Amino acid sequence: MPDANNPSAAPNPHLAQYQARGLKGRILSGVQPTGNLHLGNYLGAIRNFARLQSDYECLYCVVDMHAITVWQEPKDVIPQTREIAAAFLAAGVDGTKNAIFNQSAVPEHAQLAWIFNCVARLGWMNRMTQFKEKAGKDRENASLGLYAYPALMAADILIYKATHVPVGEDQKQHLELTRDIAVKFNNDFNVPDFFPVTEPLIFGAATRVMSLRDGTKKMSKSDPSDFSRINLTDDADAIAQKIRRAKTDPHPMPETLEDAEKRPDADNLLGIYAALADRGKADVIAEFAGKQFSEFKSALTDLAVTKLGPVGAEMQRLMKDPGHVDSVLKAGAEKARALAAPILADVYKTVGFLRP
Ligand code: TYM
Repeated sequence: MPDANNPSAAPNPHLAQYQARGLKGRILSGVQPTGNLHLGNYLGAIRNFARLQSDYECLYCVVDMHAITVWQEPKDVIPQTREIAAAFLAAGVDGTKNAIFNQSAVPEHAQLAWIFNCVARLGWMNRMTQFKEKAGKDRENASLGLYAYPALMAADILIYKATHVPVGEDQKQHLELTRDIAVKFNNDFNVPDFFPVTEPLIFGAATRVMSLRDGTKKMSKSDPSDFSRINLTDDADAIAQKIRRAKTDPHPMPETLEDAEKRPDADNLLGIYAALADRGKADVIAEFAGKQFSEFKSALTDLAVTKLGPVGAEMQRLMKDPGHVDSVLKAGAEKARALAAPILADVYKTVGFLRP
């Protein structure tokens, strides 16, 4: 089927096999088990994972190998891995229909990543803004893994020849790199269309949720202030307290989209409201235009507790049942390996490796 945005684009040969099964493609996405899963992860990614599962074949991965690119206490990695798997399930991802698994259980990710380390160029890696942010000023002391991170991410996606990747906006640059790696591999080894040129799926009213303490900074797991984010496991009291203390400005609520865009703290809260309510931002702005923030915050608290409460409660319930979560991860890893192994075998053959 031609690309609706670009009718002259060549049809993507990878889509036909899914379309024949009434699907739109194959999805792979990942979340790092680094603790503090928050509203940004939920609205930008995890909630969409569940919404896409009837239209795509889906693989959802807890990327534990990415997590250790910055120090993780070994004793925390397993509970954090189970927490992310629990979040996928609590958000409504069906663990029997889709593959939910942890990255290190499917070694083909790392094996393909090495090949991609040899395809990606230093110049490409040097442009990655997330590396610059995470490495900070002490770049000499950052791990080599943190630098190579985007090549492993490309391998996560392409080891399944995934056609679509749902993520928040902050992952856009990494997905562009994934496309560059796919194209360079296909060209270098003269295997046209071997890897698909993957499409990002970035949608919803909250593709970039900002900090509750500073509307110009991304909501993040690593922000030292817990008041900067709503964690998925926060109870109703914690959610209410954090929204009450969320930064605003001294003016009444914005009256127009243009007005909101000039006021980052207000704009962020309105985006969160719109995403949680599944409404357009303009519609939410019209409802609260000119009102006091206190009134809006009270409505936002009610909405957040209603929408997030059941997800948090289900996560807590699942985390008390690690046996069940582990059985989902085991079945998911088996399913994922069965898909990854033949693709890796083709890659090894293409690259010229001897397989005795
Ligand atoms: P991670 O673990 O940082 O975040 C998981 C997902 O949450 C999204 N996200 C946000 N969305 C909106 N607003 C925010 N403030 C916000 N913060 C995070 C992220 O965009 C992401 O979709 N590199 C990835 C993990 C990864 C991956 C992959 C993703 C590894 N391999 C392959 C897709 C495909 C990351 O660090 O996500």
